[in-house]
Amino acid sequence: MNKFTSIQDVPNLQELLTVARDCKQQPFANKHIGTNKTLGLLFFNPSLRTRMSTQKAAYNLGMDVIVMNVGSDSWTLETRDGVIMDGSATEHIKEAAAVMGEYCDILGLRTFAGLVDKQLDYSEDVLEKFIRYSGKPVISLESATRHPLQSLADVFTIEAHKTTTRPKVVLTWAPHPKALPQAVPNSFAEWAIAMNYNVVIAHPVGYELSGEFTRGASITHNQDEALHNADFVYAKNWSSFHNYGTILSHDKGWMITAEKMSCTNNAKFMHCLPVRRNQIVSDAVLDSPNSIVTEEAGNRVVSAQAVLRTMIESLA
Ligand code: CP
Repeated sequence: MNKFTSIQDVPNLQELLTVARDCKQQPFANKHIGTNKTLGLLFFNPSLRTRMSTQKAAYNLGMDVIVMNVGSDSWTLETRDGVIMDGSATEHIKEAAAVMGEYCDILGLRTFAGLVDKQLDYSEDVLEKFIRYSGKPVISLESATRHPLQSLADVFTIEAHKTTTRPKVVLTWAPHPKALPQAVPNSFAEWAIAMNYNVVIAHPVGYELSGEFTRGASITHNQDEALHNADFVYAKNWSSFHNYGTILSHDKGWMITAEKMSCTNNAKFMHCLPVRRNQIVSDAVLDSPNSIVTEEAGNRVVSAQAVLRTMIESLA
């Protein structure tokens, strides 16, 4: 595996989950494989879980880690081609990525959607340029359109809790005061569908995700109907894909409450975090024994370690 930016980069999902289970059970069993290898983690946007879990995963494999907040710790980057650099950007992505490739064996990159230009965001311009110019394997730490390390942790967590072969997994939109990218729901949908779960996506009218991520899922505008007999409820806000980056609804009726969870099959509650309490989900649900959000976040170490281990093995 020489890049990890989407599920399409994973040759065998079940094998990756087996590696992840092994990393969970024996986190230090492969402490030698990252010796003398350096992981560079580049953040264009803030992070708590991705930053800490990916570092921990790398340390578990014996790697050295360099973390950089691009733009605040380093020079501001120009990403457009052929421009006269007479503005605020000091360095071009061509040189910056190539230089980072000199220092690191694997690069991780977080670069969110700008939510202004859909075509630019969905072309994954920055991520693709890092892949091209660094010459090194690149891991997405959440890009404009996907968050594969999160999705791997999500399906790993579902596998640990499911009580039927094909659980009903409901991805539901929930309200949020800010416009958020579609990366997490896009990614969760494509991984959950690849796992052959019974995937139902519920959202208000106008919040349809791009069809390339949701083929194979049932889509409804009726949240109550979706939640009926659900085994897992994955709540997330996203802004409109079709009316790009806009907020079309603040409907508090879409918040996940204990009453809504009572219609499920004693479902586990999931969210990638950070989550806004009593906006996305009520305190009562988030603090209930059915909430597995902390375990889900803990499994981010496992997903990062499984990906890093697989990548290091293919470097050899
Ligand atoms: N879920 C997630 O990626 O969290 P952070 O944004 O804190 O890294």
